[in-house]
Amino acid sequence: MTWQATALTLFPAMFPGTLGQSLAGRALERGIWSMEARDMRDYGLGRHRVVDDTPFGGGAGMVMRPDVVAAAIAGIERAGRPLVYPTPRGRPLAQADIRRYAAGPGVVVLCGRYEGVDERVLEASGAEQVSIGDYILSGGEVAATVLLDACVRLLPGVMGSGESAVEESFADGLLEYPLYTKPAQWDGRDVPEVLLSGHHAAIAKWRHAASETVTQARRPDLWAAYQARTGQDTPRIAGPRADADRLN
Ligand code: ADE
Repeated sequence: MTWQATALTLFPAMFPGTLGQSLAGRALERGIWSMEARDMRDYGLGRHRVVDDTPFGGGAGMVMRPDVVAAAIAGIERAGRPLVYPTPRGRPLAQADIRRYAAGPGVVVLCGRYEGVDERVLEASGAEQVSIGDYILSGGEVAATVLLDACVRLLPGVMGSGESAVEESFADGLLEYPLYTKPAQWDGRDVPEVLLSGHHAAIAKWRHAASETVTQARRPDLWAAYQARTGQDTPRIAGPRADADRLN
């Protein structure tokens, strides 16, 4: 069964965009997933196909009209798919959400423009409001692309044997350890000795300690949760590359 992505947007030419390339693009060509972009302007009102109006209560910018957005939503086959509305006001999008979306039949993403969408249509449609981070994009399309990219890479058959579908970061609540490849010496910098040793247990231990160090330095939120879960106190020494100063 093809995993189905639908974007409701005023800029249908933004899709598939980057999702038409590389891993997601090959999976799209192979029919593992499908991408449909519906132009909400088609549901706009009057000769000028108006989709927005000024906010009640005053303030800057324009708000997308609930009647127009509702008609656009009604115009698609939901087929059991969740309706997702990317917005900086949403709850943080997490890998657990991505896993849930990828495991289902697909998603419908409502891409807002202007100041956003009238709250009533979000309530009425049961839209899941998600944020991809604490910054403001000019519209939902880039956030939708982020969400879809993260889903598509998890679909069965998308990752070849050469690619790892393992969610290194976040799988155990830690950031991923640093990666190195050839040459072993570059620009006066050495690869950590243990990685050249062939001792798998020692390598695994170093990597885990490096994950702990980098997580403590960069993500106090993840580190606190990890400490609470594991009782881990301070990170073990992870080698000269992992000292906190170098990580910022
Ligand atoms: N739309 C605009 N900014 C956004 C953000 N940070 N996350 C999700 N959707 C958005």
